[in-house]
Amino acid sequence: MRTQQVNEVYNIMSLRFHLCFLVLFVVFLITPTHCLGHQCLPKQHVALFIFRDSLVDAGNNNYINSTTEVQANYGPYGETFFKYPTGRFSNGRIIPDFIAEFANLPFITPYLYPGYHQYTDGANFASAGAGALIETHQGLVIDLKTQLQYFKKLEKLLREKLGVAETKTLLARAVYLINIGFYDYGVLLFTTNSSASKLPSRRIRRYGDSQLDKCDQRGRKFVIPNLGPFGCLPFARALNMALGNIGARLQEVNPIVKLHNEALSKVLQELEGELNGFKYSIVNSYTYLSEIIHKPSKYGFKESRIACCGIGPYRGMFSCGGKRSIKEYKLCENVSDYVFFDSIHPSEKASQQFVELMWNGTPNITGPYNLKEFFENK
Ligand SMILES: *[C@@H]1O[C@H](CO)[C@@H](O)[C@H](O)[C@H]1NC(C)=O
Ligand SMILES: *[C@@H]1O[C@H](CO)[C@@H](O)[C@H](O)[C@H]1NC(C)=O
Ligand SMILES: *[C@@H]1O[C@H](CO)[C@@H](O)[C@H](O)[C@H]1NC(C)=O
Ligand SMILES: *[C@@H]1O[C@H](CO)[C@@H](O)[C@H](O)[C@H]1NC(C)=O
Repeated sequence: MRTQQVNEVYNIMSLRFHLCFLVLFVVFLITPTHCLGHQCLPKQHVALFIFRDSLVDAGNNNYINSTTEVQANYGPYGETFFKYPTGRFSNGRIIPDFIAEFANLPFITPYLYPGYHQYTDGANFASAGAGALIETHQGLVIDLKTQLQYFKKLEKLLREKLGVAETKTLLARAVYLINIGFYDYGVLLFTTNSSASKLPSRRIRRYGDSQLDKCDQRGRKFVIPNLGPFGCLPFARALNMALGNIGARLQEVNPIVKLHNEALSKVLQELEGELNGFKYSIVNSYTYLSEIIHKPSKYGFKESRIACCGIGPYRGMFSCGGKRSIKEYKLCENVSDYVFFDSIHPSEKASQQFVELMWNGTPNITGPYNLKEFFENK
């Protein structure tokens, strides 16, 4: 029985992950452009482009030949705010929605939304379950390479619509939110015998260097939440229980994540020194989530360990909605009390608080820039 549970959990995840850390791959493959034109868009207009995974996917997987394992287009997802399932892995709004609200933009539409071509406010390319590697859920998600190809297509479309100069301005002023999530890194920590020494500070650096020549010296603003304490997700707690003594990894995971986060800060800091106009904002998810998990009542929550929606210990089995390999699930009565909506993803309320920190955060938590400064074109 227990073995079966473990297998179920593993089935949910793709096991083929690679330690190679690819943020910079994303950062530099988005070819920067120049604002040479005289007819630039209004100074205040800052678009928002979103890449990567389920924490920021607004429903792209609804429009591909995917699987319910990496979709959230069924109830009770979406019920609190939208009143219908949109594909967001939340009871309501997710991180990019709150950023859009703060920035006075409409909710940024999934790129694949049929018939949508109004991209001047930005676009959401993220796809739940998408890892850095193409093999991750191959054919079932929009892998990173494809997300970037879509971005190129959009650039072309914008050029036809706005002209070359304005498109360049738009893209140079835009904010790029890139979430490196569970599927890229967290799962790996549970499924391989990782040791801190394998962590790729030097590797990130080398990778960055190899990409530098692709990066012309243009201003682009990147927002990169660092890695949260994965060991504290309901999913991880449940997995740890299921694995028992074999997988006493919970204690190992968070220190490794911390090391990774230190390496990320260091590399981005170095790049900022080397590249004109390269600006970034690291939002300290790790600190925020650790705080909220240890002192939920301070943040207006009652439950920070158990998910609102799921089954098993901590409702940590990823079954919310009953359409995945595990069919049973339980739903809490009042999601406002919960930090986690399903076994992996935050509730709407937790996302909202997180975006408040992204927007207004002081340098000890969000830096060197916060989103407010980015959207005010500072
Ligand atoms: C959709 O996925 C299923 C199952 O993986 C596959 O059999 C089918 O051929 C796919 N359809 C398309 C249009 O790709
Ligand atoms: C994991 O690594 C540790 C040392 O880093 C080693 O002692 C242990 O035997 C390894 N476990 C497995 C299952 O490979
Ligand atoms: C749900 O929880 C929130 C926060 O704890 C509380 O303000 C609200 O009154 C609760 N709603 C119900 C219907 O119990
Ligand atoms: C960050 O600094 C602010 C004041 O500048 C303080 O109120 C807050 O508690 C600090 N947060 C952390 C996590 O250190």
